[in-house]
Amino acid sequence: MNQTFGSTYAQAYDLLYLDKDYTAECDLIENVFHRYSDKPISRVLDLGCGTGNHAFPLASRGYEVVGIERSESMLAQAHNKLAHAPTKPKLSYCAGDIRSVKLESEFDAALMMFAVLGYQLENKDVLAALKTARQHVRTGALFIYDVWYGPAVLHQRPSERSRVIPTADGKILRIASGQLDASRHLCSVHYNLWQMSAKRIVSETEETHLMRYFFPLELHLLLECAGFSSLRLGAFPEFDRDPDETTWNILGVGRAS
Ligand SMILES: C[S@@+](CC[C@H](N)C(=O)[O-])C[C@H]1O[C@@H](n2cnc3c(N)ncnc32)[C@H](O)[C@@H]1O
Repeated sequence: MNQTFGSTYAQAYDLLYLDKDYTAECDLIENVFHRYSDKPISRVLDLGCGTGNHAFPLASRGYEVVGIERSESMLAQAHNKLAHAPTKPKLSYCAGDIRSVKLESEFDAALMMFAVLGYQLENKDVLAALKTARQHVRTGALFIYDVWYGPAVLHQRPSERSRVIPTADGKILRIASGQLDASRHLCSVHYNLWQMSAKRIVSETEETHLMRYFFPLELHLLLECAGFSSLRLGAFPEFDRDPDETTWNILGVGRAS
């Protein structure tokens, strides 16, 4: 497998997604907790936690959170933010692959936010990741995840996108282009990333991210096979809206049966 979320990409990650509203996403996650949970939620497992952009604020809101991440560079960013936090929330991070990791703990909710499930490409990988979530939560616990919605991906198709993000001493330029492999429900997204100071290129990298997109019936089936009942697929972040061919991202909620 090619290397994704390597050092240069991980260092730029929080800047690249500065406009992603993690606060509102954590509000939505808490809203889902209140709406769907049978019991108050206190322990949360964040699978594919990246740099901790959900784990950290949720822990700061009083949840006890454990984040699992396989990219050492993403995990280093997460640890760094925690180390510099003025107050220490109940938060820990572990290196691991969400398809196989085993912790001696039980949680009230498991998360896979920002297309983490889509990085699991084959059915066996998706099932392994879902089973990890199931094995670490109590019966009745919630599983919350967002993925690319197949009907919209096929309708809208990926296009080339470029972004310029100003930084303290220059800018980051990112160009992304995607190609579909519809028979495998995969989109190959090639990222070129340049970090520039006022006068020169400071670093550059390229990564190809293979992303799987999902259709509703397979999600219901995959969740069921892993021991969850699938409660809702809503547009993301407008969760109360039903997804359609214009809804690239959906939020799913499952309950451990
Ligand atoms: C788009 S990032 C999302 C990170 C974080 N959840 C967020 O919302 O910012 C996807 C993350 O999932 C991680 N990931 C993907 N597959 C994984 C696996 N099998 N085991 C552990 N981490 C994985 C990647 O390394 C990456 O950090």
